[in-house]
Amino acid sequence: MRGDGERQPIKFWTAVSAAFARKVEFDIAYEKASMTQDQLKQAVARAALDYVAASVPTGAIVGVGTGSTANFFIDELATIKHRLGGAVASSAATQRRLEGHGIRVFDLNDVDRLPVYVDGADEIDHGLSMIKGGGGALTREKIVAAAADIFVCICDQSKRVRTMGRFPLPIEVIPMARARVARELARFGGEPRLREGFVTDNGNLILDVHGLSITDPAALESELDHVVGIVTNGLFARRGADLLLLADPACVETFKRPAV
Ligand code: 5RP
Repeated sequence: MRGDGERQPIKFWTAVSAAFARKVEFDIAYEKASMTQDQLKQAVARAALDYVAASVPTGAIVGVGTGSTANFFIDELATIKHRLGGAVASSAATQRRLEGHGIRVFDLNDVDRLPVYVDGADEIDHGLSMIKGGGGALTREKIVAAAADIFVCICDQSKRVRTMGRFPLPIEVIPMARARVARELARFGGEPRLREGFVTDNGNLILDVHGLSITDPAALESELDHVVGIVTNGLFARRGADLLLLADPACVETFKRPAV
């Protein structure tokens, strides 16, 4: 009779290879779980590049946002610059980075059509309304977004919220109206604080409104648009994102703006 001794090596090696497979699975899961926020931003920037490369015609001009996630996107965009007509920048910083990569930057006034605008956000809700302006570029971002056919928002998972307002809402104000606008803003239930030592690309100031709970972003955006002295508020709700690419450690998910 053949003893267990002869079958033992097979059992042994099966157990070893199963343990090895578990270890590899564990390592992959661990690596994904420990992805840094920058790695998530890079992953979502790559996904945005794939979207742009597949959807815009050769020679197209694309709108480009501002911030650390947008910076990763600009670096990716450089890899297909030979296929692009160029870009429209939403800030002086973005313009510098695009030009640093040899991407031609156009004045929006000289561009007939922008098929796509790609930008990050400070918060985004499930209806794809956003708070933007953490980097202070909200006015030019809103203008370029308004001119684009499709707004693609790129974020890591930390930005997606049920109700916006934890991130202070940036408001760009004309300097002489700062105190008056701050008094008006207090009526909306938040606490406006001047962003110290900051001047926008347009020569204005930013008030960051803390403590809001924004249940109807489009209504608040419209109300704030009527406050004299405000240049732009950081709610992007009436023209929210059409597409959200959201990076979490497992994948980049795509969400479409729900039909109203
Ligand atoms: C700049 C913005 C940015 O899109 C927003 O602040 C997100 O930036 P980041 O990608 O660095 O988190 O609105 O005005």
